[in-house]
Amino acid sequence: MTDYRYAYLEPGNYARGWHIVLFSQELAVGEVKRLHYFGRDLVAYRGESGRAAVLDAHCPHLGAHLGSAEGRITGDNIACPFHGWTFSPTGECVDIPYAKQIPERAVHALRGWPVQEKNGFIALWYDPQDNPPEDYLPDIPEWNTAGWGDWVFYRSRIRARACDVIENIVDIAHFPHVHGGKVRKWENVFAERTVTQLSTVDRNPEAKIIVPPGVPAELIDTRSEAGAEADAWGDATYHGPSIMYYYTESRSPEMNFRAWWVNAHTTVNDEELDLCSAVIVDSLDGAPLPQEFAELYPQIAHIAFGQDVEIWKDKVYREDPILCDGDGPINKLRRWYEQFYLPLEAPAR
Ligand code: FES
Ligand SMILES: [Fe+2]
Repeated sequence: MTDYRYAYLEPGNYARGWHIVLFSQELAVGEVKRLHYFGRDLVAYRGESGRAAVLDAHCPHLGAHLGSAEGRITGDNIACPFHGWTFSPTGECVDIPYAKQIPERAVHALRGWPVQEKNGFIALWYDPQDNPPEDYLPDIPEWNTAGWGDWVFYRSRIRARACDVIENIVDIAHFPHVHGGKVRKWENVFAERTVTQLSTVDRNPEAKIIVPPGVPAELIDTRSEAGAEADAWGDATYHGPSIMYYYTESRSPEMNFRAWWVNAHTTVNDEELDLCSAVIVDSLDGAPLPQEFAELYPQIAHIAFGQDVEIWKDKVYREDPILCDGDGPINKLRRWYEQFYLPLEAPAR
């Protein structure tokens, strides 16, 4: 076992907790999807009752991929396309159509992962130690209600480490340089499984910002114009190691709106992760939002991430960073983050 310091740098050690693997709209009844997260092949499917499940992908019989040939769903179970062995949403082998008896060893041979579907996303509980899932993901009551609708989301697979992504939440000093804007108020609040950033940021159209490659210039213009005189505040909270909820309200002469973002990163392997930004947006004063803005806003959200990606893809990780008095609580965040990579009985610090 590694030293508990920087346990998240150990190859193959992925964070215990809830991770978004799909949005609900991506998995129709009877549909099977292949996934690759946490260094493993997985299969997600939605049974006929509507229940979503995620299992290890390879059949314990002779190793076929349960998602081959588009997969086969019967009721809430999935049947292997090779010889028909059938598994329940928890991975139990419930039928072998040509056997009189299911071998005892087969019953629990396939790993089923705890899954929770809420707020329009499907989250998987990853824990190599198999501790029971924790109940820390809050509801977003506005999701799928009138005015708000369902998530518009973007996902990109990038070369980055989860420990770089999470650090954004406390890194106040990168904000003006990467994203533009003047930070008026910034506060981080730590709790057991959450870390929150409360911020008020004024737009600064003069600021030098990072423009991710491939982003049309007019989008960046929209971004700075839309918020040039905006009075905006937002609360961002990581619930566990990889799912961040962000609520923001913005008032400007052109438009008043409120929005929920779900920013999530799900680890693929030691070098890559899927970065996902999902947005629902509604007007703040009853006046309908211009259609153009409603379509642009989710892209703008993803571009904000894209600005960070330009840094992450080339940076190294400093285990003993030299920090100054204007930096956010970087080391405190690192100690908080280590908990998700340590066995639950790890020594208290
Ligand atoms: S390999 Fe899956 S049933 Fe034979
Ligand atoms: Fe950032």
